[in-house]
Amino acid sequence: MKTLAIVFVAACGLAAAGAPEGKTVFESKCQPCHGPAGEGKPAIAKMFKVDMRPLGSKGVQSKSDVELKKIITTGNGKMKAVAGLSGKQLDDVVAFLRTLKQ
Ligand code: HEC
Repeated sequence: MKTLAIVFVAACGLAAAGAPEGKTVFESKCQPCHGPAGEGKPAIAKMFKVDMRPLGSKGVQSKSDVELKKIITTGNGKMKAVAGLSGKQLDDVVAFLRTLKQ
């Protein structure tokens, strides 16, 4: 029983560990368009002629991790695919997106 509890705590620690690294990925790959808190930059929204939903909004947060990764790797509407991310960087940036939940 005691071992189980330790494993559980360790696993939770690992799951959350991606977020700080994901923040670094976000800052370099996403923030220029989506803003520091994922709120969306008005100038970018205007340029693409779209309404950018805040990434912390319910509509975006209700997407699964798989759907979010697909948006990042294949693009979505006016957003082009973001190239050059490793599998781990994708996991990390999705973990960071979850911290933006409003
Ligand atoms: C060149 C600017 C740009 C970059 C860089 C960019 N995005 Fe986007 N993103 C957009 C725009 C514009 C939209 C809205 C597209 C539309 O609605 O047609 C969008 C939409 C999204 C959506 C869907 C939101 C919704 O309302 O369903 C997600 C999720 C997302 N971006 C995540 C990311 C992540 C994560 C990164 C970095 C890995 C990133 N984006 C990088 C411009 C960008």
